[in-house]
Amino acid sequence: MKISIFGLGYVGAVSMACLARDGHEVTGVDVDPHKLDMIRSGRSPIVEEGIQDLTREVVASGRVQVTNDVAAAIRDTELSFVCVGTPSGPNGSQDMSYIRRVMESIGAALAKKQAFHTVVLRSTVQPGTLDELVRPTLEKASGKVADRDFGLAFQPEFLREGTSIKDYDRPPITIVGTRSTRAAEVLRAVFGHLPCEFVVTSVGVAEMQKYAANAFHAVKITFANEIGRLARAVNVDAREVMALICKDTHLNISPAYLRPGFAFGGSCLPKDLRALTYMGKTRDVVTPMLGGVLGSNRAHIDAAIDAVMQGETRRVGMIGLSFKKGTDDLRESPLVSVAERLIGKGYDLRIFDPEVNLSRLIGANKRFIEQSIPHIGKLMVGSCEEVVRHGDTILVGLGGKDVEAVLAAGLQAKHLVVDVVGVAARGPAGSRYHGICW
Ligand SMILES: NC(=O)c1ccc[n+]([C@@H]2O[C@H](COP(=O)([O-])OP(=O)(O)OC[C@H]3O[C@@H](n4cnc5c(N)ncnc54)[C@H](O)[C@@H]3O)[C@@H](O)[C@H]2O)c1
Repeated sequence: MKISIFGLGYVGAVSMACLARDGHEVTGVDVDPHKLDMIRSGRSPIVEEGIQDLTREVVASGRVQVTNDVAAAIRDTELSFVCVGTPSGPNGSQDMSYIRRVMESIGAALAKKQAFHTVVLRSTVQPGTLDELVRPTLEKASGKVADRDFGLAFQPEFLREGTSIKDYDRPPITIVGTRSTRAAEVLRAVFGHLPCEFVVTSVGVAEMQKYAANAFHAVKITFANEIGRLARAVNVDAREVMALICKDTHLNISPAYLRPGFAFGGSCLPKDLRALTYMGKTRDVVTPMLGGVLGSNRAHIDAAIDAVMQGETRRVGMIGLSFKKGTDDLRESPLVSVAERLIGKGYDLRIFDPEVNLSRLIGANKRFIEQSIPHIGKLMVGSCEEVVRHGDTILVGLGGKDVEAVLAAGLQAKHLVVDVVGVAARGPAGSRYHGICW
């Protein structure tokens, strides 16, 4: 394939060398004349294992050209990757001026081109960038319509500096966000052979996924380091601790606990987090991330309460009360916090939880209801149907087939559903639905 690459920094220079190695004819475009000269003479502008040899080989093969002539690069290729920088401003905002400028010049070049061309953004950008900045800029400058007259896609880049050529050949996943089937097929022809899943999704999901992945990596490193400082303070080697953490592939290194949904609670996580951060305080170990976790969990509970308050009705039905499905444990259940806050605000509440049957409860849970939350005990009803009949707003804190069936049969146009677990049932026309993370 004939491919142009805009921006020959770290991402662009590696992609250029690897695509040319794989047999494509690649035209590199950059505004920096020194970078162009370096590549012309067979040298890579970046320092990276294997990149100098590879650049020398592909330049010598004649499959790599470089230029600052955007019109020629677009005219002579069928696919363009854009990997210009998106540096951070002092307030965390992204500088989009490089993307805007390069898209203006690509759009002007597309105006003069008859054949179909596909533009793929590879720079890391905030969700909405492709649709709100790139698409209108290209359409205005070209006079053409994206996804009809030219292909447009966002494909996050997962190269890591230091291992970029290896990462190029073994990416964790290929993700293409696009509305253009043709653009997806062009990218499948280039990357479909790689030993990983090739996923075509919406543009927004692809844009957000890249941020989520980088944030996840940063959070993992910080977690290991905070545990490391805490462990050291109590004379424990955190390397051994974290090695054991990684051996648990059921709960730790697994999809467990990585589904957006409701806040955590129960008798262990909040208590043990408090104990751990207190341990840090008493030993002068600062752990801002672990220390912020309970505050973040409270913010999540607040989001559910805010959604209920949007309902402009006092009659609320709650499905679910215990801290997770399949248990009657109410200690530190986030749904108990929601109920208490709504009662405090004067809401007329009814609650059903199949596991929390007051007549059946024994031991610690019965005592907990009677002593700590008797006001909630009084609001419990015997069936999910009663909750749906009572509420104009239904807070769904528990999923499952039975709940789905009752919702499917009982929801009316008057209802607002606040869903914190991800049920499939939707009310009839006129009803409203608010998912907590979706
Ligand atoms: N560096 C990484 O490891 C990495 C990994 C994945 C994604 N990303 C993302 O990819 C993007 C690029 O990162 P990078 O590290 O390669 O950036 P970089 O700053 O090293 O390179 C950007 C290049 O774009 C060129 N450029 C600027 N305006 C141009 C224009 N109008 N036309 C042509 N070229 C132009 C610059 O001269 C520069 O050579 C960023 O959004 C980054 O977040 C980077």
